[in-house]
Amino acid sequence: MENFFATCPRGLEAALASELTALAAQHVKAVDGGVQFAGPFELCYSVNLESRLASRVLWKIARAPYRNEQDIYEITRALPWCGWFGPERSIRVNVAAIKSPLKSLDFATLRIKDAVCDVFRAATGRRPDVDTHNPDVRIHAFLTATDFTLYLDTSGDALFKRGYRTVTGDAPLRENLAAGILRLSGWQPEQALLDPMCGSGTFLTEAAMIACNIAPGANRSFGFEKFKRFDAGAWNTLRERAHARINKSIKTNIYGSDRFGDVLELARTNLVALGLEDKVSLKQANVLEMPPPAASGILVTNPPYGVRMDEQQSLAEFYPKLGDALKQKYSGWTAYILSADMRLPKLIRLTASKRTPLFNGALDCRLFEYKVVAGSMRK
Ligand SMILES: C[S@@+](CC[C@H](N)C(=O)[O-])C[C@H]1O[C@@H](n2cnc3c(N)ncnc32)[C@H](O)[C@@H]1O
Repeated sequence: MENFFATCPRGLEAALASELTALAAQHVKAVDGGVQFAGPFELCYSVNLESRLASRVLWKIARAPYRNEQDIYEITRALPWCGWFGPERSIRVNVAAIKSPLKSLDFATLRIKDAVCDVFRAATGRRPDVDTHNPDVRIHAFLTATDFTLYLDTSGDALFKRGYRTVTGDAPLRENLAAGILRLSGWQPEQALLDPMCGSGTFLTEAAMIACNIAPGANRSFGFEKFKRFDAGAWNTLRERAHARINKSIKTNIYGSDRFGDVLELARTNLVALGLEDKVSLKQANVLEMPPPAASGILVTNPPYGVRMDEQQSLAEFYPKLGDALKQKYSGWTAYILSADMRLPKLIRLTASKRTPLFNGALDCRLFEYKVVAGSMRK
Protein backbone atom coordinates (compact mmCIF):
# COMPACT_ATOMS: atom_id res chain seq x y z
CA MET A 1 0.00 0.00 0.00
CA GLU A 2 1.36 3.43 -0.99
CA ASN A 3 0.32 6.90 0.14
CA PHE A 4 -0.53 9.61 -2.35
CA PHE A 5 -1.58 13.24 -2.36
CA ALA A 6 -3.60 14.69 -5.24
CA THR A 7 -3.53 18.47 -5.52
CA CYS A 8 -6.45 20.41 -7.02
CA PRO A 9 -7.78 23.96 -7.45
CA ARG A 10 -8.82 25.21 -4.01
CA GLY A 11 -12.54 24.72 -3.50
CA LEU A 12 -12.67 21.37 -5.36
CA GLU A 13 -11.23 19.20 -2.55
CA ALA A 14 -14.52 17.51 -1.57
CA ALA A 15 -15.45 16.90 -5.22
CA LEU A 16 -12.00 15.43 -5.88
CA ALA A 17 -12.34 13.18 -2.82
CA SER A 18 -15.54 11.67 -4.20
CA GLU A 19 -13.97 11.29 -7.65
CA LEU A 20 -11.01 9.43 -6.09
CA THR A 21 -13.31 7.19 -4.06
CA ALA A 22 -15.05 6.21 -7.29
CA LEU A 23 -11.60 5.33 -8.72
CA ALA A 24 -11.11 2.83 -5.83
CA ALA A 25 -8.76 5.01 -3.75
CA GLN A 26 -8.64 4.10 -0.06
CA HIS A 27 -8.26 6.19 3.12
CA VAL A 28 -9.47 9.22 1.16
CA LYS A 29 -9.23 12.47 3.10
CA ALA A 30 -9.77 15.98 1.75
CA VAL A 31 -7.53 18.69 3.20
CA ASP A 32 -6.78 22.27 2.07
CA GLY A 33 -5.52 22.21 -1.51
CA GLY A 34 -5.91 18.51 -2.17
CA VAL A 35 -6.79 15.00 -1.09
CA GLN A 36 -4.75 12.31 0.67
CA PHE A 37 -5.39 8.75 -0.44
CA ALA A 38 -3.80 5.31 -0.47
CA GLY A 39 -3.70 2.22 -2.64
CA PRO A 40 -1.38 -0.02 -4.64
CA PHE A 41 1.28 1.83 -6.67
CA GLU A 42 -0.62 1.20 -9.93
CA LEU A 43 -3.52 3.27 -8.56
CA CYS A 44 -1.54 6.35 -9.58
CA TYR A 45 -1.78 5.19 -13.22
CA SER A 46 -5.56 5.17 -13.19
CA VAL A 47 -5.89 8.39 -11.17
CA ASN A 48 -3.58 10.24 -13.59
CA LEU A 49 -5.47 8.79 -16.53
CA GLU A 50 -9.02 9.26 -15.23
CA SER A 51 -9.17 12.13 -12.74
CA ARG A 52 -10.77 15.20 -14.30
CA LEU A 53 -10.28 17.31 -11.16
CA ALA A 54 -6.75 16.64 -9.87
CA SER A 55 -3.87 18.98 -10.76
CA ARG A 56 -1.10 16.53 -9.82
CA VAL A 57 -0.76 13.12 -8.19
CA LEU A 58 2.15 12.99 -5.75
CA TRP A 59 3.59 9.77 -4.32
CA LYS A 60 4.66 10.18 -0.71
CA ILE A 61 8.17 8.81 -0.13
CA ALA A 62 9.08 10.20 3.29
CA ARG A 63 7.81 12.14 6.24
CA ALA A 64 9.88 13.09 9.28
CA PRO A 65 10.23 15.81 11.88
CA TYR A 66 12.90 18.44 11.12
CA ARG A 67 14.33 21.59 12.65
CA ASN A 68 16.87 22.89 10.15
CA GLU A 69 18.41 22.47 6.69
CA GLN A 70 20.88 19.85 7.93
CA ASP A 71 17.96 17.63 9.05
CA ILE A 72 16.43 18.04 5.61
CA TYR A 73 19.70 17.04 3.95
CA GLU A 74 20.09 13.96 6.14
CA ILE A 75 16.50 12.75 5.80
CA THR A 76 16.78 13.09 2.00
CA ARG A 77 20.25 11.49 1.89
CA ALA A 78 18.95 8.37 3.70
CA LEU A 79 16.33 7.57 1.04
CA PRO A 80 16.80 4.88 -1.66
CA TRP A 81 16.84 7.22 -4.66
CA CYS A 82 18.67 4.82 -6.96
CA GLY A 83 15.81 2.35 -6.59
CA TRP A 84 13.29 4.94 -7.82
CA PHE A 85 14.97 6.32 -10.94
CA GLY A 86 18.31 6.29 -12.74
CA PRO A 87 21.06 8.99 -12.75
CA GLU A 88 20.34 9.65 -16.46
CA ARG A 89 17.03 11.30 -15.45
CA SER A 90 16.98 15.07 -15.01
CA ILE A 91 15.38 16.39 -11.83
CA ARG A 92 13.70 19.46 -10.43
CA VAL A 93 13.00 20.13 -6.75
CA ASN A 94 10.04 22.24 -5.58
CA VAL A 95 9.57 23.30 -1.98
CA ALA A 96 6.35 24.65 -0.50
CA ALA A 97 5.96 25.63 3.14
CA ILE A 98 3.44 26.73 5.71
CA LYS A 99 4.80 28.17 8.97
CA SER A 100 8.25 26.70 8.39
CA PRO A 101 10.95 28.14 10.70
CA LEU A 102 13.51 28.05 7.83
CA LYS A 103 14.81 31.40 6.63
CA SER A 104 15.31 30.44 2.99
CA LEU A 105 13.26 27.92 1.02
CA ASP A 106 15.76 28.30 -1.83
CA PHE A 107 18.48 26.97 0.45
CA ALA A 108 16.26 24.05 1.51
CA THR A 109 15.65 23.31 -2.20
CA LEU A 110 19.40 23.29 -2.80
CA ARG A 111 20.05 20.94 0.14
CA ILE A 112 17.47 18.45 -1.14
CA LYS A 113 19.02 18.54 -4.61
CA ASP A 114 22.52 18.09 -3.10
CA ALA A 115 21.38 15.10 -1.04
CA VAL A 116 19.80 13.37 -4.07
CA CYS A 117 22.90 14.01 -6.19
CA ASP A 118 25.25 12.82 -3.41
CA VAL A 119 23.33 9.53 -3.14
CA PHE A 120 23.65 8.93 -6.90
CA ARG A 121 27.31 9.98 -7.06
CA ALA A 122 28.26 7.66 -4.18
CA ALA A 123 26.38 4.70 -5.67
CA THR A 124 26.94 5.11 -9.42
CA GLY A 125 29.65 7.73 -9.92
CA ARG A 126 27.15 9.81 -11.85
CA ARG A 127 24.64 12.46 -10.72
CA PRO A 128 21.35 13.58 -12.29
CA ASP A 129 21.23 16.94 -14.06
CA VAL A 130 18.90 19.66 -12.90
CA ASP A 131 16.35 20.79 -15.48
CA THR A 132 13.88 23.37 -14.19
CA HIS A 133 11.89 23.61 -17.46
CA ASN A 134 11.28 20.08 -18.56
CA PRO A 135 12.56 17.65 -15.92
CA ASP A 136 12.09 13.87 -16.15
CA VAL A 137 11.48 13.62 -12.40
CA ARG A 138 9.91 16.25 -10.16
CA ILE A 139 10.57 16.08 -6.43
CA HIS A 140 8.19 18.04 -4.20
CA ALA A 141 8.89 18.88 -0.57
CA PHE A 142 6.33 20.22 1.83
CA LEU A 143 7.36 21.82 5.12
CA THR A 144 5.15 22.60 8.09
CA ALA A 145 6.34 24.07 11.39
CA THR A 146 7.60 20.64 12.46
CA ASP A 147 7.38 18.12 9.61
CA PHE A 148 9.17 17.55 6.32
CA THR A 149 7.33 15.50 3.67
CA LEU A 150 8.83 14.41 0.34
CA TYR A 151 6.92 13.33 -2.74
CA LEU A 152 7.77 12.09 -6.22
CA ASP A 153 5.47 13.59 -8.83
CA THR A 154 3.72 10.82 -10.79
CA SER A 155 2.01 13.29 -13.17
CA GLY A 156 4.89 15.20 -14.78
CA ASP A 157 3.15 18.07 -16.57
CA ALA A 158 0.16 19.29 -14.56
CA LEU A 159 -2.97 17.28 -15.29
CA PHE A 160 -4.96 20.23 -16.58
CA LYS A 161 -2.71 19.92 -19.63
CA ARG A 162 -4.83 17.30 -21.37
CA GLY A 163 -2.91 17.57 -24.61
CA TYR A 164 -5.83 18.80 -26.73
CA ARG A 165 -5.41 22.54 -26.32
CA THR A 166 -3.27 23.82 -29.14
CA VAL A 167 -4.45 27.43 -28.89
CA THR A 168 -5.82 29.50 -26.02
CA GLY A 169 -8.06 32.53 -25.81
CA ASP A 170 -7.78 35.57 -23.62
CA ALA A 171 -8.46 34.22 -20.13
CA PRO A 172 -8.91 30.47 -20.51
CA LEU A 173 -10.07 28.43 -17.57
CA ARG A 174 -7.94 25.57 -16.36
CA GLU A 175 -9.41 22.35 -17.70
CA ASN A 176 -9.65 20.68 -14.28
CA LEU A 177 -11.42 23.70 -12.80
CA ALA A 178 -13.92 23.64 -15.68
CA ALA A 179 -14.49 19.90 -15.15
CA GLY A 180 -14.88 20.51 -11.40
CA ILE A 181 -17.51 23.18 -11.99
CA LEU A 182 -19.40 20.82 -14.31
CA ARG A 183 -19.32 18.27 -11.52
CA LEU A 184 -20.52 20.81 -8.92
CA SER A 185 -23.37 21.79 -11.28
CA GLY A 186 -24.60 18.19 -11.32
CA TRP A 187 -24.86 18.31 -15.14
CA GLN A 188 -25.61 14.92 -16.71
CA PRO A 189 -24.84 14.23 -20.39
CA GLU A 190 -28.57 13.81 -21.19
CA GLN A 191 -29.21 17.42 -20.15
CA ALA A 192 -28.74 20.49 -22.31
CA LEU A 193 -25.60 22.45 -21.49
CA LEU A 194 -24.89 25.99 -22.66
CA ASP A 195 -21.91 28.30 -22.26
CA PRO A 196 -23.07 31.57 -23.87
CA MET A 197 -19.67 33.29 -23.36
CA CYS A 198 -17.58 30.27 -24.21
CA GLY A 199 -14.28 31.83 -25.35
CA SER A 200 -11.94 28.95 -26.25
CA GLY A 201 -14.61 26.52 -25.08
CA THR A 202 -13.09 24.87 -22.03
CA PHE A 203 -16.45 23.98 -20.40
CA LEU A 204 -17.75 22.67 -23.72
CA THR A 205 -14.70 20.54 -24.49
CA GLU A 206 -14.62 19.06 -21.00
CA ALA A 207 -18.36 18.34 -21.19
CA ALA A 208 -18.03 16.65 -24.58
CA MET A 209 -15.17 14.50 -23.21
CA ILE A 210 -17.35 13.50 -20.23
CA ALA A 211 -20.30 12.68 -22.51
CA CYS A 212 -18.15 10.53 -24.82
CA ASN A 213 -16.33 8.89 -21.91
CA ILE A 214 -12.90 10.11 -23.01
CA ALA A 215 -10.38 9.81 -20.18
CA PRO A 216 -8.71 13.21 -19.69
CA GLY A 217 -5.22 11.65 -19.76
CA ALA A 218 -5.77 9.39 -22.77
CA ASN A 219 -3.61 11.54 -25.05
CA ARG A 220 -0.56 12.42 -22.97
CA SER A 221 2.43 11.01 -21.10
CA PHE A 222 3.09 10.99 -17.34
CA GLY A 223 5.89 11.33 -14.83
CA PHE A 224 5.51 7.74 -13.58
CA GLU A 225 6.74 6.48 -16.97
CA LYS A 226 10.25 7.64 -15.92
CA PHE A 227 10.32 5.56 -12.72
CA LYS A 228 12.21 2.25 -12.47
CA ARG A 229 9.13 0.45 -11.19
CA PHE A 230 7.04 1.60 -14.17
CA ASP A 231 5.10 -1.39 -15.47
CA ALA A 232 4.53 -0.66 -19.15
CA GLY A 233 2.30 -3.71 -19.60
CA ALA A 234 -0.09 -2.73 -16.82
CA TRP A 235 -0.18 0.86 -18.07
CA ASN A 236 -0.88 -0.14 -21.68
CA THR A 237 -3.73 -2.38 -20.55
CA LEU A 238 -5.30 0.53 -18.65
CA ARG A 239 -4.89 2.87 -21.58
CA GLU A 240 -6.31 0.42 -24.07
CA ARG A 241 -9.32 -0.13 -21.81
CA ALA A 242 -9.85 3.62 -21.64
CA HIS A 243 -9.72 3.88 -25.44
CA ALA A 244 -12.16 0.99 -25.82
CA ARG A 245 -14.69 2.75 -23.57
CA ILE A 246 -14.87 5.90 -25.75
CA ASN A 247 -18.32 6.33 -27.26
CA LYS A 248 -18.48 9.12 -29.79
CA SER A 249 -21.86 8.05 -31.14
CA ILE A 250 -23.71 9.33 -28.07
CA LYS A 251 -26.20 12.13 -28.74
CA THR A 252 -25.30 15.36 -26.96
CA ASN A 253 -27.03 18.67 -26.24
CA ILE A 254 -24.01 20.90 -25.75
CA TYR A 255 -24.11 24.47 -27.01
CA GLY A 256 -21.59 27.28 -27.01
CA SER A 257 -21.62 30.83 -28.21
CA ASP A 258 -19.53 33.95 -27.99
CA ARG A 259 -19.82 37.46 -29.31
CA PHE A 260 -16.59 37.10 -31.26
CA GLY A 261 -16.08 34.75 -34.18
CA ASP A 262 -12.32 34.51 -33.77
CA VAL A 263 -12.52 33.03 -30.26
CA LEU A 264 -15.16 30.58 -31.48
CA GLU A 265 -12.55 29.39 -33.98
CA LEU A 266 -10.27 28.60 -31.01
CA ALA A 267 -13.06 26.54 -29.46
CA ARG A 268 -13.58 24.73 -32.74
CA THR A 269 -9.85 23.98 -33.09
CA ASN A 270 -9.76 22.41 -29.61
CA LEU A 271 -12.81 20.27 -30.36
CA VAL A 272 -11.38 19.18 -33.73
CA ALA A 273 -8.15 18.09 -31.98
CA LEU A 274 -10.29 15.56 -30.05
CA GLY A 275 -12.57 14.66 -32.94
CA LEU A 276 -15.51 16.12 -30.99
CA GLU A 277 -16.56 18.98 -33.27
CA ASP A 278 -19.94 17.40 -34.01
CA LYS A 279 -20.73 17.04 -30.28
CA VAL A 280 -20.99 20.80 -29.67
CA SER A 281 -23.02 23.41 -31.59
CA LEU A 282 -21.12 26.68 -31.79
CA LYS A 283 -22.76 29.95 -32.77
CA GLN A 284 -21.66 33.57 -32.84
CA ALA A 285 -24.16 35.49 -30.70
CA ASN A 286 -24.57 38.13 -28.02
CA VAL A 287 -25.72 36.50 -24.78
CA LEU A 288 -28.06 39.44 -24.20
CA GLU A 289 -30.01 38.71 -27.38
CA MET A 290 -29.78 34.96 -27.71
CA PRO A 291 -32.78 32.67 -27.17
CA PRO A 292 -32.04 29.50 -25.16
CA PRO A 293 -31.27 26.39 -27.25
CA ALA A 294 -33.63 24.18 -25.17
CA ALA A 295 -36.56 24.56 -22.76
CA SER A 296 -34.39 23.75 -19.76
CA GLY A 297 -30.82 22.85 -18.94
CA ILE A 298 -27.61 23.92 -17.26
CA LEU A 299 -25.96 27.19 -18.19
CA VAL A 300 -22.33 27.45 -17.12
CA THR A 301 -20.08 30.36 -17.93
CA ASN A 302 -17.37 32.70 -16.81
CA PRO A 303 -18.15 36.19 -18.02
CA PRO A 304 -15.39 38.67 -18.75
CA TYR A 305 -13.98 40.55 -15.79
CA GLY A 306 -12.13 43.80 -16.19
CA VAL A 307 -9.16 45.36 -14.52
CA ARG A 308 -9.05 48.75 -16.22
CA MET A 309 -11.49 51.51 -15.26
CA ASP A 310 -13.30 51.56 -18.60
CA GLU A 311 -13.71 47.76 -18.49
CA GLN A 312 -15.03 48.00 -14.93
CA GLN A 313 -17.55 50.58 -16.03
CA SER A 314 -18.81 48.61 -19.02
CA LEU A 315 -19.13 45.46 -16.86
CA ALA A 316 -21.15 47.40 -14.29
CA GLU A 317 -23.57 48.08 -17.15
CA PHE A 318 -23.36 44.53 -18.52
CA TYR A 319 -24.18 42.50 -15.37
CA PRO A 320 -27.72 43.93 -14.85
CA LYS A 321 -28.47 43.28 -18.53
CA LEU A 322 -27.20 39.71 -18.17
CA GLY A 323 -29.49 39.26 -15.14
CA ASP A 324 -32.43 40.61 -17.17
CA ALA A 325 -31.66 38.33 -20.12
CA LEU A 326 -31.53 35.26 -17.85
CA LYS A 327 -34.72 36.28 -16.10
CA GLN A 328 -36.63 36.97 -19.31
CA LYS A 329 -35.50 34.05 -21.46
CA TYR A 330 -34.04 31.30 -19.31
CA SER A 331 -36.75 30.20 -16.91
CA GLY A 332 -36.35 26.48 -16.38
CA TRP A 333 -32.55 26.74 -16.54
CA THR A 334 -30.04 26.65 -13.70
CA ALA A 335 -27.14 29.03 -14.27
CA TYR A 336 -23.63 28.67 -12.81
CA ILE A 337 -21.57 31.81 -13.16
CA LEU A 338 -17.89 31.85 -12.16
CA SER A 339 -16.53 35.30 -11.46
CA ALA A 340 -13.73 37.03 -9.59
CA ASP A 341 -15.72 40.27 -9.73
CA MET A 342 -17.24 40.65 -6.28
CA ARG A 343 -19.66 43.32 -7.60
CA LEU A 344 -21.40 40.78 -9.84
CA PRO A 345 -23.81 39.25 -7.29
CA LYS A 346 -25.21 42.67 -6.45
CA LEU A 347 -25.30 44.05 -9.98
CA ILE A 348 -26.88 41.00 -11.63
CA ARG A 349 -29.93 41.53 -9.41
CA LEU A 350 -30.84 37.86 -9.09
CA THR A 351 -30.85 35.84 -5.89
CA ALA A 352 -28.09 33.23 -5.76
CA SER A 353 -29.21 29.87 -4.36
CA LYS A 354 -25.59 28.89 -3.70
CA ARG A 355 -22.15 30.51 -3.74
CA THR A 356 -19.02 28.37 -3.76
CA PRO A 357 -15.53 29.84 -3.27
CA LEU A 358 -13.10 28.56 -5.93
CA PHE A 359 -9.65 29.59 -7.13
CA ASN A 360 -8.81 29.96 -10.82
CA GLY A 361 -5.03 29.84 -10.43
CA ALA A 362 -4.35 32.57 -7.86
CA LEU A 363 -7.62 34.37 -8.62
CA ASP A 364 -10.20 34.27 -5.81
CA CYS A 365 -13.54 33.51 -7.49
CA ARG A 366 -17.09 32.57 -6.60
CA LEU A 367 -19.35 30.16 -8.41
CA PHE A 368 -22.88 31.57 -8.17
CA GLU A 369 -25.85 29.30 -8.69
CA TYR A 370 -29.08 30.87 -9.97
CA LYS A 371 -32.21 28.79 -10.37
CA VAL A 372 -34.12 30.80 -12.93
CA VAL A 373 -37.84 30.64 -12.25
CA ALA A 374 -40.22 32.98 -14.08
CA GLY A 375 -41.29 35.98 -12.02
CA SER A 376 -40.04 34.86 -8.61
CA MET A 377 -36.42 35.83 -8.21
CA ARG A 378 -36.12 39.58 -8.63
CA LYS A 379 -34.07 40.95 -5.76
C1 LIG B 1 -13.40 35.15 -19.51
S1 LIG B 1 -13.75 34.79 -21.18
C2 LIG B 1 -14.33 33.11 -21.15
C3 LIG B 1 -13.18 32.14 -21.24
C4 LIG B 1 -13.62 30.71 -21.46
N1 LIG B 1 -14.26 30.13 -20.29
C5 LIG B 1 -12.45 29.85 -21.90
O1 LIG B 1 -12.23 28.82 -21.30
O2 LIG B 1 -11.75 30.21 -22.85
C6 LIG B 1 -15.24 35.70 -21.49
C7 LIG B 1 -15.78 35.57 -22.90
O3 LIG B 1 -17.05 36.26 -22.95
C8 LIG B 1 -17.21 36.80 -24.27
N2 LIG B 1 -18.23 37.84 -24.22
C9 LIG B 1 -18.15 39.07 -23.65
N3 LIG B 1 -19.34 39.72 -23.77
C10 LIG B 1 -20.19 38.90 -24.42
C11 LIG B 1 -21.55 39.00 -24.85
N4 LIG B 1 -22.26 40.09 -24.62
N5 LIG B 1 -22.09 37.93 -25.48
C12 LIG B 1 -21.37 36.81 -25.71
N6 LIG B 1 -20.08 36.67 -25.35
C13 LIG B 1 -19.48 37.69 -24.71
C14 LIG B 1 -15.80 37.27 -24.63
O4 LIG B 1 -15.66 37.34 -26.03
C15 LIG B 1 -14.91 36.19 -23.98
O5 LIG B 1 -14.57 35.20 -24.93
